[in-house]
Amino acid sequence: MTRAPVLDGQETPRRRRSRLRRLVVRSARVVVLLVALLAALLGWTYVSAETDTAGKVAFERPLAIPPLAPSRVDDQGRRVFDLGLQQGSADLGQGQPTPTWGINGDYLGPTLRARRGEEVLVNVTNHVGEETTLHWHGMHLPARMDGGPHQMIAPGETWSPTWQVDQPAATLWYHPHLHGATADHVLRGLAGMFLLDDAQSRRLDLPHEYGVDDVPLVVQDRSFDDDGEMEEGARFLNTTGFVGDTVVVNGTVGPYLDVQTELVRLRVLNASNARIYNFGFDDDRTFAMVASDGGLLEAPHQTDRLLLSPGERAEIVVQMAPGEQTVLRSYPADLGSNFLTTRLAGGDDTLDIVQLRAAERLRQSPPLPGQLVDVPELDPAAAAATREFSLSGTQINGANMDMERIGETVALGTTEEWRVTNDDGQPHSFHVHDVQFQILDIAGAEPSPSLAGWKDTVLLRPGETARLVMAFSDYADPDRPYMFHCHLLANEDSGMMGQFVVVSPGDEAGSPPSAPHEHHG
Ligand code: C2O
Ligand code: CU
Repeated sequence: MTRAPVLDGQETPRRRRSRLRRLVVRSARVVVLLVALLAALLGWTYVSAETDTAGKVAFERPLAIPPLAPSRVDDQGRRVFDLGLQQGSADLGQGQPTPTWGINGDYLGPTLRARRGEEVLVNVTNHVGEETTLHWHGMHLPARMDGGPHQMIAPGETWSPTWQVDQPAATLWYHPHLHGATADHVLRGLAGMFLLDDAQSRRLDLPHEYGVDDVPLVVQDRSFDDDGEMEEGARFLNTTGFVGDTVVVNGTVGPYLDVQTELVRLRVLNASNARIYNFGFDDDRTFAMVASDGGLLEAPHQTDRLLLSPGERAEIVVQMAPGEQTVLRSYPADLGSNFLTTRLAGGDDTLDIVQLRAAERLRQSPPLPGQLVDVPELDPAAAAATREFSLSGTQINGANMDMERIGETVALGTTEEWRVTNDDGQPHSFHVHDVQFQILDIAGAEPSPSLAGWKDTVLLRPGETARLVMAFSDYADPDRPYMFHCHLLANEDSGMMGQFVVVSPGDEAGSPPSAPHEHHG
């Protein structure tokens, strides 16, 4: 390189070097500042994401009990219910009314109740002003009665599914299931319980007086803005969906329950969009879990914690002493994720749920039976097919939900094994329509007693595989699919859902009716 004569205003290599140095120092300062800002933002996000309401909830309102839905028997012997989906507003403790949706009321819906063997007919009329559906979660029924995304109900229309109840006594529930907006429709308040009874459940001496010693708990979390309106979105960086800071039980904020009997049975439903609850009592008392998603366990399971992911149910029986009080609480949960994901998904939260207040004199309850029901074991060796499902991002096996695509074809009358793996960094909860399954193993181990009965939804932590066995014994229909999906509703809405059909042996899958509007079963 030849050196040019030094002229005024021209750069010497030395000047160039020092200019470069200044530039480097300056941009390093900017980078440091940006990193500090980002760290501060992350730190603030992390710290502000924790909710702890232990001991801070006043419990000033009596727990609302969803009314039992009235029904009549029609000339064909069917038990008929009428459900109207409507807009409304409710007192959710914000000092002003909160705009809500509800079913035959302002928020949530009545409890439907039917016996095994009964034919039911439900007239579902949509007055919410936009299309929606109503799905019977946990119910074994024909796909066209299922209320999934293919059974849209247009505004003003009535959809009237009918089926025969043919499964063990259980605590089921219902909620909208349209593709892409399930999260919002459930969040606004469309959900309710569907209780099934059978000969065994009626014979057993379990607490069974609805609303007295047999109490539904529809547990949801919500957040509100300054106008008292419900917030709908997920918080910054959280991928599991909406997680709120206020617990609402049966539509009551800060609820207490007056207990009048020695034993009280709580039917707990996690009807939240994304929150995973780790239930226990504030005095760490033990309680007896007697039922899981699909029905009674073989025997009561004594425990002091109950983990429920969205969509899951459990029935527990709690013993109370005269005059005492205890608070059902949700404790921090091991979500199996890294610390940031866990924190943002609510895994570090402690939430007071409902206070139980025992009367000074309690009515005697019969002792809890030592044995409940026989749960016949499904045999994985008999599986006609084994399917593998990988959950990751918003996809199952690398594909997003497509209303036109039927991914799996199941032969009527067969048993199958489904291996479901969470290949993601966040928890997912896997739900299958039509059937109740049994968990062969999960995360390489036998299921705990709480997961050993009939299930339709299962929590999978990152890296975990569950082997599920299920029998497809009824209702072949090559054109009408059932769903399987993540029950974190935002994940489901963004595509973590697939479809299967049940066909007569030898048949092939057809195609879902292309018109998405199927107003009549
Ligand atoms: Cu609770 Cu496919 O839903
Ligand atoms: Cu998910």
